[in-house]
Amino acid sequence: MESNCLLTTDFKDLKLFRRGKVRDVYDLGEELLIISTDRISCFDVVLPSGIPYKGRVLTALSCFWFDFLKEVIEQHVITADASQYPKVVQKYANVISGRSMLVKKSKPLPVECVVRGYLSGSGWKEYKTKQSICEIKLPAGLKESDQLPQVIFTPSTKEEVGHDQNVSQDYVKKVLGTDIFDKIMQASISLYQKAAGFARQRGIIIADTKFEFGILDKKVILIDEVLTPDSSRFWPADQYQPGKQQPSFDKQFVRDYLEGLDWDKTPPGPVLPQDIINKTTEKYLDAYFKLTGKKLIE
Ligand SMILES: Nc1ncnc2c1ncn2[C@@H]1O[C@H](COP(=O)(O)OP(=O)(O)OP(=O)(O)O)[C@@H](O)[C@H]1O
Ligand SMILES: [Mg+2]
Repeated sequence: MESNCLLTTDFKDLKLFRRGKVRDVYDLGEELLIISTDRISCFDVVLPSGIPYKGRVLTALSCFWFDFLKEVIEQHVITADASQYPKVVQKYANVISGRSMLVKKSKPLPVECVVRGYLSGSGWKEYKTKQSICEIKLPAGLKESDQLPQVIFTPSTKEEVGHDQNVSQDYVKKVLGTDIFDKIMQASISLYQKAAGFARQRGIIIADTKFEFGILDKKVILIDEVLTPDSSRFWPADQYQPGKQQPSFDKQFVRDYLEGLDWDKTPPGPVLPQDIINKTTEKYLDAYFKLTGKKLIE
């Protein structure tokens, strides 16, 4: 597999807005430049190895979904065509082309809009102890990874450090006001339903996902990345078997490899063997192909 792997950017003449686990974001004033690197995190630890093409796949998938979902709500994308970027970033075009997006900077709402169609992760944990998620009561007797009787909106806080905390819908209503709350809840559910229905026909279950919204010119717009394997749980539909954890469409080779090591899941993470890296690249490329029907590379 080619060695064209980008682990980090360090554009000294641009203002760094935020370096996340995977993305480097630069502040261009009224716009942001969001760059997806090839970093991969597993069990919340960013690994020292990158996954070639991961950043390109995540960017291309986000672009695909933004376009697919554009009727649902206004969104932040200006362009992902590097030749249209402002002059100040043109000199980095060879590094960022195909793995970045120019977006409208907004004021992000302080909530992660999680939508769940299946019972997994922190939702499953909460269900087991309380039979509810974010104070939404659920029927008894559900198994891990079961499809939920209906799609639910289970917001969480955005924590700077540590895990995001699930919160009740009432809490978010108080923080944001009823109008904005209603808008983001309805949009989140519609976005999820439209995308998950589409993905299901293409062999991928989107078990849950997370959207972010921001305010721009007094309007609520969809921001950040959408429906990528980093912001969602993608499961291969042909292996779906409720009653246990499902394999991850994209990260399962990495997880299995890490579980087989004597590593305590705290940083620094281990270097990945080349065959795990190659197989994982294939999974990302395959996810893109399955969902869009297009090959990212020939
Ligand atoms: N259009 C936008 N306007 C303003 N902020 C935005 C916009 N789009 C995305 N953001 C913000 O950019 C940041 C991107 O950071 P990123 O998601 O890479 O890292 P993180 O959320 O801090 O950590 P993690 O890697 O765990 O997700 C987020 O805080 C997101 O809210
Ligand atoms: Mg984030």
